[in-house]
Amino acid sequence: MHMTDLIEKKKQGRTLTQEELHFIVQGYTAGDIPDYQMSALMMAICFRGMTPEETAQLTMEMEHSGDVVDLSPLGEHTADKHSTGGVGDKTSLVLCPMVAACGGKMAKMSGRGLGHTGGTIDKLESFPGFSTAMTPEKFLETAENVGFVIAGQTANLAPADKKMYALRDVTATVDCIPLIVSSIMAKKLASGARTVVLDVKTGSGAFMETEEAAFELARQMVSVGKHAGRNMAAVVTDMDQPLGFAVGNALEVKEAISVLRGADVPDLRELCLVLGTNILVRSGLAETEAEARARLEKSIESGAALDKLAAMVRAQGGDPAAVYDTSLLPQAPVVHTVRAPRDGYIAAMEARDIGLVSMHLGGGRATKEDVIDLSVGVVLAAKDGAYLRAGDALAAIHAKTEADAAAAEEELLKCYTFSDKAPVRPPFIRGVVT
Ligand code: URA
Repeated sequence: MHMTDLIEKKKQGRTLTQEELHFIVQGYTAGDIPDYQMSALMMAICFRGMTPEETAQLTMEMEHSGDVVDLSPLGEHTADKHSTGGVGDKTSLVLCPMVAACGGKMAKMSGRGLGHTGGTIDKLESFPGFSTAMTPEKFLETAENVGFVIAGQTANLAPADKKMYALRDVTATVDCIPLIVSSIMAKKLASGARTVVLDVKTGSGAFMETEEAAFELARQMVSVGKHAGRNMAAVVTDMDQPLGFAVGNALEVKEAISVLRGADVPDLRELCLVLGTNILVRSGLAETEAEARARLEKSIESGAALDKLAAMVRAQGGDPAAVYDTSLLPQAPVVHTVRAPRDGYIAAMEARDIGLVSMHLGGGRATKEDVIDLSVGVVLAAKDGAYLRAGDALAAIHAKTEADAAAAEEELLKCYTFSDKAPVRPPFIRGVVT
């Protein structure tokens, strides 16, 4: 087999066979196929697309390009959740303890933040002493005993994706649905959970800016997961504004804890209930959606989910006292209130740019090597659709210095559009694909 022939075949819009995809993924991972040929092939895929079977086969080849985690010792109810990334997305910190309190086993591998989006691992490191580095034995043991564990991604999980993603980043081939589907799903399948729920974001802060593209991505990921024998669901949700009110690592941990204590942060709470309902029903832990939702709500009311978070923090070396007393989490020295510049409705917020405000305060990375400040960020006082009078609180900036806060205020005010008319907002949850 020759790579040139396979590039030519895809250039003509023909379908690659499983043997050919195997040759490509194995050859590229081993270094036998050079970057320039892989780039040409991926560009051809961007223009010509892939059939559903072809995408599924590519995904499974990428899944098996490295280690595959065996979660079978944990039984049938293993579950995982993936979000396509957004601003203020602290869903895992709320969802995992709720599902664990209902009998699920969430054995998750997560990443660090880059650019305008945060990463779950950075957020969790707000707990003094917390570590996501552990042996495979400890990973399984924590998932078994606590019901959830969050580790860093192992080095050899879907190595084909690692190389392909780095290449896509510099060859303008990131925004191609079959390549996104295979990239995300190869890692999810290799992570081993029987049930996978996906949160596909749409809007200004999301990877998929249009709703149509988000649904297409959701449908294709669900289809690939089912093809691989997993229980699947995808929820398409709004990312035109940040999720919840807090953006910034420790600030998001505090907000997640507040929801586990029963605070009404409507979009965040609802998202966790919908994702959790899908996990419980699809993994066979609940018979109906109503039963699943009631059990998840009870896990908050009873304090069981909050206790699960504390148990996980303790198991991973962190100080669980901070779960019950959030003043023990990192606090920024300066808290500055930003006020509404005029009367009116908040008609739009640029989620991505609000994520960048937090990043510029020191809460996010521009490059993988950057060291971040866990205490800084932004806490919104009002969201899209709210009516404010000039001088009302719009947001609180948590910063290292007064000068940083002043710069962030200027940047933050540019993220808002005000209007005299109440905006019409589509629902937060746009739909569920099963
Ligand atoms: N996230 C991934 O892991 N892969 C993509 O292709 C896009 C987003």
